Amino acid sequence: MTEQDRVEDQVWHQVATEDAIAEGQATVHAVNGWQVLLTRFEDDIVAVNDRCTHAAARLSTGRIRRGALMCPLHGARFDLADGRCIGGAYPTLRRFPVRVANGVVEVAVPATPPGMDETPVELPG
Ligand code: FES
Repeated sequence: MTEQDRVEDQVWHQVATEDAIAEGQATVHAVNGWQVLLTRFEDDIVAVNDRCTHAAARLSTGRIRRGALMCPLHGARFDLADGRCIGGAYPTLRRFPVRVANGVVEVAVPATPPGMDETPVELPG
């Protein structure tokens, strides 16, 4: 790892090929303990923590509609443009920096794994 691979306390990781990320679909990648949800929004690839800021459900098991992630548990919607909760009921999602190099998507996550307050819970069934 070079110094360029470190951004403050974050480290870049290769996570997927660019063509594997589609608009309207979510993929999840375990990166240094973080559950990184990747999707495409307009011309950008977006990476957020796969954890609803209300009660920690996995957003990747919800739907993506009209530029928003919808939580499967209680229906909160989060804007893919900035991670804000539409309507403002819950805190903004944690977003991760994304870059693409030679068709490979790289995401910068914190150098330390997430605590329980950043980890999604698994829903039964
Ligand atoms: S856990 Fe997502 S809206 Fe409640």
